[in-house]
Amino acid sequence: MKISKICCIGAGYVGGPTMAVIAQKCPEIKVTVVDINEQRITDWNSDNLNKLPVFEPGLDKVVEEARGRNLFFSINVDKAIEEAEMIFISVNTPTKTYGKGKDMAADLKYIELCARQIAKVAKTDKIVVEKSTLPVRTAQAIKSILSQTGKGVNFQILSNPEFLAEGTAIQDLLNPDRILIGGELNEKGIEAINALVNIYASWVSKDKILTTNVWSSELSKLVANAFLAQRVSSINSISELCESTGADVREVSRAVGMDSRIGSKFLNASVGFGGSCFQKDILNLVYIAKSYGLNEVADYWEQVILMNNHQKSRFASKILSTLYNTVSGKKIAMLGWAFKKDTNDTRESAAIYVADQLLEEKANIAVYDPKVESNRIYADLNYLNSRSEDENSLLVQVHNNSYEACKDAHAIAIMTEWDEFKDCDWQRIYDNMLKPAFIFDGRFLLDREELKKIGFKSFSIGI
Ligand code: UDX
Ligand code: UDX
Repeated sequence: MKISKICCIGAGYVGGPTMAVIAQKCPEIKVTVVDINEQRITDWNSDNLNKLPVFEPGLDKVVEEARGRNLFFSINVDKAIEEAEMIFISVNTPTKTYGKGKDMAADLKYIELCARQIAKVAKTDKIVVEKSTLPVRTAQAIKSILSQTGKGVNFQILSNPEFLAEGTAIQDLLNPDRILIGGELNEKGIEAINALVNIYASWVSKDKILTTNVWSSELSKLVANAFLAQRVSSINSISELCESTGADVREVSRAVGMDSRIGSKFLNASVGFGGSCFQKDILNLVYIAKSYGLNEVADYWEQVILMNNHQKSRFASKILSTLYNTVSGKKIAMLGWAFKKDTNDTRESAAIYVADQLLEEKANIAVYDPKVESNRIYADLNYLNSRSEDENSLLVQVHNNSYEACKDAHAIAIMTEWDEFKDCDWQRIYDNMLKPAFIFDGRFLLDREELKKIGFKSFSIGI
């Protein structure tokens, strides 16, 4: 079976870049990305490539090449569903904020809405591909909704989780470690799996394309993120021990990571992991384990989240205790708001929680992030509901550069490892701060010895 038209529902961080790369690599396939958010689609269609709703290095070039040729962004969801032979579902699956499984389970309402929409519109057979990360056995629910159409339309459900990391999405899509495709292991299912394998095989070697049953594929995505997050929490737990014992966590991390059985990646201690996936996926895993009565399994993975929360809170407490146990009315500059460099995504960013804790102490926060706009920063804080919106706008100022943000500050907190912070004129920043001038590096970004020579009192995690 050869696919000539693809539709993707959800033009977000995953759907947008993934479809752009498929369109670039498969010029013979018409790829239409649809979204219910009209503004997002307008932005994807913007002539100004700096206005794309997702910032990813290299994305603009890919979009420029394919858009209008075989890549289209549209709000006409029904038309795109109707004409496609293959439909990717790439809508968001946030943690539930209500009802059963509140604060743990994934909220599948958007997935269900998509399934219902497909069921309503489809007149011909479709392959439906789960791109969103989902709890195990979601495909079953999608299948059951789709099979009720009574129109004689056949649906095959595939799971094809995305492993791209933000900030390196295009590279990850072009050179993936592996592509995972789960499907039903019967004749029709295998035909559908092969149709998707053939799309990826346009640029990924076949030995990197794994095919499994649906449940293994769905679960593998959660487990991959849980393992990655666990490594960060493990090294972060050691960072606290290092601070107490005089060991240097970077040295420990290097020594441990050089063991080829352990490996060196994801062993950087930090102010805490963020992003839309790690926390959500682990909570999801915990919820699934609990729902099967596997309490020890659930407790084991929950600890990864608890350690991460502790790391964020400990960083804020360190600022407070160092500034003589009071930050009320003091200006604290936060450099970086995104959850990591090279992205404008702030979901679950450690910066939000550290700022929140300092704001509880009535600090004045001055933020600068190269890619995050001020309305996003206020929205992130307002969403926590810890204070009134008026209070947040009074206590938090957003600046256009590091120098403004740090002027007259008592302390600086490095929250995101943006390269440009390394290139700042730190002498100039120091000269314009109140003394003693403190710097708290949550990312091992700056040279501590250099900062000390200038006169800063500096703190890095795990040293
Ligand atoms: C993705 C995955 O889908 C999620 O499961 C994974 O864990 C994280 O990454 P992401 O692309 O980051 O989500 O989400 P987001 O950037 O919020 O994009 C989702 C898009 O879907 C939004 O633009 C939203 O408007 C759209 N949407 C949502 C629809 O078009 N229809 C809906 O019914 C719901
Ligand atoms: C992650 C997975 O890597 C990706 O495969 C999946 O598809 C989505 O979730 P992402 O959240 O975009 O990707 O970024 P990632 O690079 O994994 O970083 C997550 C968080 O962990 C960031 O806040 C990062 O700063 C932090 N981190 C990462 C550390 O603190 N230390 C490390 O050593 C590595």
